[in-house]
Amino acid sequence: MSVDMRTYLAHVELANPMTTAAGCASSGRELAQFFDLNRIGALVTRSITMAPRAGRPTPRMAETPSGMLNAIGLQGPGIDAFLERDLPWLAQRGVRTIVSIGGGTVAEYGALARRLTDAPGVTAVEVNLACPNMEDRGRVFARDGASAAEVISSVRTLMRYDVPVVAKLSPDVADVVSVARACVEGGADALSLINSPLGMSIDTETLRPSLAAVSGGLSGPAVRPLAVRCVWQVHAALPGVPIIGVGGVLTGRDAFEMVLAGACVVGVGTALFHDPHACLRILRELEELLQARGFQRLADAVGLAHRPPGNARSRADTTDMEESSL
Ligand SMILES: Cc1cc2nc3c(=O)[nH]c(=O)nc-3n(C[C@H](O)[C@H](O)[C@H](O)COP(=O)(O)O)c2cc1C
Repeated sequence: MSVDMRTYLAHVELANPMTTAAGCASSGRELAQFFDLNRIGALVTRSITMAPRAGRPTPRMAETPSGMLNAIGLQGPGIDAFLERDLPWLAQRGVRTIVSIGGGTVAEYGALARRLTDAPGVTAVEVNLACPNMEDRGRVFARDGASAAEVISSVRTLMRYDVPVVAKLSPDVADVVSVARACVEGGADALSLINSPLGMSIDTETLRPSLAAVSGGLSGPAVRPLAVRCVWQVHAALPGVPIIGVGGVLTGRDAFEMVLAGACVVGVGTALFHDPHACLRILRELEELLQARGFQRLADAVGLAHRPPGNARSRADTTDMEESSL
């Protein structure tokens, strides 16, 4: 008997919990060479900006033990090209598409929301809050609950009511729960945890930082415990808010860990660079793990690790968990 892998991002049903992580599958075309994008729950696009961006100078990627550093700088063609070329291509194929947006001011996020609101084929909008706020000396929005909430509230007001707004948070904060709470109070329907924390490495041959931008986002297995901790803390504090768990997921076991911590959707980023089929493989492995442990529905496993050990293996009495998780 197969496991019911359906899940909900706010009121939107996804066939399964697997998504790409923003920035790791561009706008889907490259990945579509490898498999039918309709087989994953949703595709999350790279963060779309108002104007085209060339990104940061090179080198902008560096390998680290169990992870990688990147400072791409939101390279992309901008919203006009996305709406003309990429979104219609995804919509024609019926791909569930979560559009990630990035901006330097609250008004810029608002302008992006305004452009997306009537565009066909937008399943949800994910607001990348790990962008520098140009009106606050470049302080990253996600590091300050009030400015993160201001962005979310402006996007929420402008987007169509039936399109969920997801706030993507950074772990580089003292208290991720307070930023999450501020975003939910600002109107976020769901949260995505985590964006890549800042790291750096120094090339001992050139005796200089490996990245031209000096520091960059750390991703891959190295960040998974950080992501699991953030998902755990936020799910404990805001159990009714759907969470997309992202960070270092390489296997079905890693995805299962995210689900047990409280994620009802799981994003895969860095793994795609060495295995473009990773989402499908991880989905299959997750389903096998759930089946082997006697779960009939993915929903019954969401947040299960929060239960006292005595209850953790009981699947008969899961109603309160379902209601609080999805
Ligand atoms: C090359 C690269 C580009 C990324 N671009 C974006 C982006 O455009 N927007 C965003 O919100 N996150 C971006 N991220 C962060 C990922 O979406 C994800 O949160 C992070 O990499 C952790 O997941 P992972 O360990 O599975 O890669 C990027 C990550 C990488 C490695």
